[in-house]
Amino acid sequence: MNHPSFEGQPTIEAPAWVKHRKLIDWVQRVAAKTKPDRIVWCDGSQEEYDRLCAQMVEAGTLKKLNPAKRPNSYLAWSDPSDVARVEDRTFICSQRREDAGPTNNWIAPAEMRSTLDGLFEGAMRGRTMYVVPFSMGPLGSPIAHIGVELSDSPYVVTNMRIMTRMGRKVYDVLGEDGEFVPCVHSVGAPLAAGAKDVSWPCNETKYIVHFPESREIWSYGSGYGGNALLGKKCFALRIASTMGRDEGWLAEHMLILGVTSPEGRKHHVAAAFPSACGKTNFAMLIPPEGLNGWKISTIGDDIAWIKPGKDGRLYAINPEAGYFGVAPGTSEKTNFNAMATLKENVIFTNVALTDDGDVWWEGMTDDAPAHLIDWQGKDWTPASAKESGRKAAHPNARFTAPASQCPSIDPDWENPAGVAIDAFIFGGRRSTTVPLVTEARNWVEGVYMAATMGSETTAAAAGQQGVVRRDPFAMLPFCGYNMSDYFGHWLKTGERLEQLNAKLPRIFCVNWFRKGADGKFVWPGFGENMRVLSWMVGRIEGSAQGEEHAFGVSPHYEDIDWSGLNFSREQFEQVISVDDAAWRAELALHAELFDTLQQGLPPALTEAKRALEQKLAA
Ligand code: OXD
Ligand code: MN
Repeated sequence: MNHPSFEGQPTIEAPAWVKHRKLIDWVQRVAAKTKPDRIVWCDGSQEEYDRLCAQMVEAGTLKKLNPAKRPNSYLAWSDPSDVARVEDRTFICSQRREDAGPTNNWIAPAEMRSTLDGLFEGAMRGRTMYVVPFSMGPLGSPIAHIGVELSDSPYVVTNMRIMTRMGRKVYDVLGEDGEFVPCVHSVGAPLAAGAKDVSWPCNETKYIVHFPESREIWSYGSGYGGNALLGKKCFALRIASTMGRDEGWLAEHMLILGVTSPEGRKHHVAAAFPSACGKTNFAMLIPPEGLNGWKISTIGDDIAWIKPGKDGRLYAINPEAGYFGVAPGTSEKTNFNAMATLKENVIFTNVALTDDGDVWWEGMTDDAPAHLIDWQGKDWTPASAKESGRKAAHPNARFTAPASQCPSIDPDWENPAGVAIDAFIFGGRRSTTVPLVTEARNWVEGVYMAATMGSETTAAAAGQQGVVRRDPFAMLPFCGYNMSDYFGHWLKTGERLEQLNAKLPRIFCVNWFRKGADGKFVWPGFGENMRVLSWMVGRIEGSAQGEEHAFGVSPHYEDIDWSGLNFSREQFEQVISVDDAAWRAELALHAELFDTLQQGLPPALTEAKRALEQKLAA
């Protein structure tokens, strides 16, 4: 690893349970550079978590919620400028620009190291540097990997304890020389001696930096989850995707669920949707009236690490241990299981505070409370909101909650071997054009569908919302290398499995978000998505029918189980129809994407496009 060295600094005492010399040396070098007042080697205990929370309550970073309403739970309000991932400040610093590809921001590693050198010099002055060891995935699982985050944010430490397997036991897996991904994070707000701290320190200047070759992460200036909890997007997606490319596995922006049929047959599905498009809801779905015999169990809600097994099947784990979910829109109606998960032991960020010391966000209940303190600490009433349009909770407000508290958690969610995947689902947020569900006829067609996926942007990332952008595999902000090579990696994975005579997972493309002429969603979504999932299971098992069209196979009205739901043939037509003119325009957008990704684009995808165009013309 190419870290600068700092001489003449005192040795940092590591506890006896840390036996990894290289790790200790690295901590020492980073401390020498960033100059924290103190170093805390986190052990991951409840006592440590409680102590840090109490300190943050004292400092004003957290508010303790009413224990009678929300036991052991806290609320953080961030700086109003630090509320989402900053994609334009996120960098992939591979040696060669073409290895980052045209969809990533790239800066040459030497130049970036020199920038970081300046930024991190004394960045932790007046603060504590926490050493946070974590495992992404069940400890010791052959699919899991380890990281260590050095951070000057206690908010990061407590969130990491929920989101990962964090603490002392990680050192047992690491031993004296185990591999780990080094992650350095600073809020970029050094404190002068005696100066009073702000409740959410951060810096206008932000850098979220990845060095894929040396597998390092450096994050500066933000305390927001996706920018600061470095196990999540930075490691589990950007760095892990490059590890997967090199080692023959997949790191994906996917939920994982188990679906059990009324007859008791169980299948596993991994599904990719862009941020804030309902992955958490889908992962925790409760089948609707009429489909009560079905059961959904939750393995993960955001990220899947998937490795081929000896039998040629793909095995997936959820590398995370908690949910960092979008709060607004979450209610007992839309996601009963999430609400049950949020009963206790939660850190909320940027939701509103009720007068009785609990939390509220838009969509949580039909009627808003008469008075709240909004996420910016201001008085809020339904009337004032009507007048000013100000939301009580930020649209990207989040909850951080332990996965183990989810009522629908799958018994295998911590199985170190993972679960065998039977189908992949890809979905975007599209008000027009894309049908409710389509099954790809083969692996290449499925990869094409996923590669050309488009979605309307959401509040999860800073920037304009609601504009359609291509988001291949829902990985546009998260792929740590050249997107064309990533497509090639998916194609190769399929070829390799085929050579083993394995049954490849089916690939489906879905869109829950088509709107009618009145601008309203036509498909009821949420639990009703079970109807689509049950059709998919029928396809996997060979029992469900469908109609072949230019892009694949979609169900007829009769192929869906409508028990308990009044959804007319006409409504179904509105969500399933393929409009030729709209699709010609769509294919022109695919062409634009392929132009951008020209270098290294697998010919199989251009051929798949040509075949689709011919089918459409016919
Ligand atoms: C997330 C995201 O936080 O995708 O999961 O933005
Ligand atoms: Mn996500």
